[in-house]
Amino acid sequence: MKLPFIEPYRIKTIEEINFSTREEREKWIEDAEYNLFNLQSNQVIIDLLTDSGTGAMSDKQWAEMMTGDESYAGSSSFKKLKDTVEQLTGFPYLLPTHQGRAAENVLFSVLVKEGHIIPGNTHFDTTKGHIEFRKAHAVDCTIDEAFSIDDPYPFKGNIDIEKLEKIYQQYGKEKIPFTLITITCNSSGGQPVSIENIRAVKALSERYNIPIFFDAARFAENAFFIKEREKEFHHQTIKEICKEMFSYADGMTMSSKKDGLVNIGGFLALKNEELYQEAGNFGIIYEGYLTYGGLAGRDLAALAQGLQESTEHSYLQARIGQVIYLGEKLRSYGIPVQYPIGGHAVFVDALGFYPHLKRDDFPAQTLGIELYKEAGVRGVEIGTLLADRDPETRENRYPALELLRLAIPRRTYTQNHMDYIAKALKNVFDRREEVTKGYSIAWEAPILRHFTVKLKKK
Ligand code: F0G
Repeated sequence: MKLPFIEPYRIKTIEEINFSTREEREKWIEDAEYNLFNLQSNQVIIDLLTDSGTGAMSDKQWAEMMTGDESYAGSSSFKKLKDTVEQLTGFPYLLPTHQGRAAENVLFSVLVKEGHIIPGNTHFDTTKGHIEFRKAHAVDCTIDEAFSIDDPYPFKGNIDIEKLEKIYQQYGKEKIPFTLITITCNSSGGQPVSIENIRAVKALSERYNIPIFFDAARFAENAFFIKEREKEFHHQTIKEICKEMFSYADGMTMSSKKDGLVNIGGFLALKNEELYQEAGNFGIIYEGYLTYGGLAGRDLAALAQGLQESTEHSYLQARIGQVIYLGEKLRSYGIPVQYPIGGHAVFVDALGFYPHLKRDDFPAQTLGIELYKEAGVRGVEIGTLLADRDPETRENRYPALELLRLAIPRRTYTQNHMDYIAKALKNVFDRREEVTKGYSIAWEAPILRHFTVKLKKK
């Protein structure tokens, strides 16, 4: 019999989970004004709010925490990280930042000006926030297949080259400081971008003299999908594929809280020295000196080790295997999910789940609340609340997909936990007809409203 692949590690430290009753959870979510962000962590049994900074570090990373060099300038931990990033990406210039959005802030402070256009596959919300805050525009050029839940297209994070060329023709290099490729594309379901597509974007962008940057938060997961699904790369190692991917970009912003396998951190890595110097000025103002960027030396050292581990095939096979295991289980119950299953999360299609609810009932948020009440499982809405209002018209933006994201923290939960989540969602699915109304907004912030929105029952 063929043996299954298993996690390439065993557990040395555990963290207790606090259980609760349905009655308790009904009270807690009401007190939280139906915003899952407002719950206390001990009110949650399985936390799938995010895969960002919520994973488990290895013993080797903890060892790095002890030996980190806390020198203000020129620490050996910075050198270790810089060498690791250069080895994996080929980028020689590194600016650490306290997290991913800070790297966006530093880079965009140099490159993004009022009226600029930043095309890409679906931009993450902080990225879009940083662009719109500068009165520039993020233009989504993702392929149409990404917005069709059941289309089995293997690279639903890809950029539509025709859409991109139209934008290039319309605005040209004067208005477009760069194109941003998010690998994997979080907003379209943790979906990968192929090397073939990256090469096509590169060829087109060269003709128009437009640089390419990656939002590389989940670059290792992207490389895993390339190895699995792109014939040319079947026999290459993840590290070789990473090097190839990054060779087409001028730089990257990174949230180390994902594929860095650490709890906090980020960085900006660049090909060009001049851009590094300009960005460095903003780095110093916003983040800290060039060699620590808002992080402790120990954080830099643990990150260097984490990057080595996250680019190992055996780790990625277990990691993505677990996400796919949950997704396939849900599919076997008839629950509609974004397919193929993405790298870091299962995205449940709330419009398919609750076809009888209206868009302004916030179906994905409604589903998130029902799942929490059922089993203490906390997901996150990737739908109309997150899409926010149009900055000019102030009308709600209704995205093509209304999703409940179940993001799986790295190396944190077991297969038993996945079975629990799947059964909980099945129970909610079996009772879907009983939910006839959703929620309305009682209060919202002017930007990034989903974090703090207050809701009331309709
Ligand atoms: N880019 C992508 C694709 C992301 O998913 C995130 C964060 C960021 C940038 C920003 O990084 O949080 O370190 O500042 N995503 C988290 C999530 C928050 O839950 O998906 P950050």
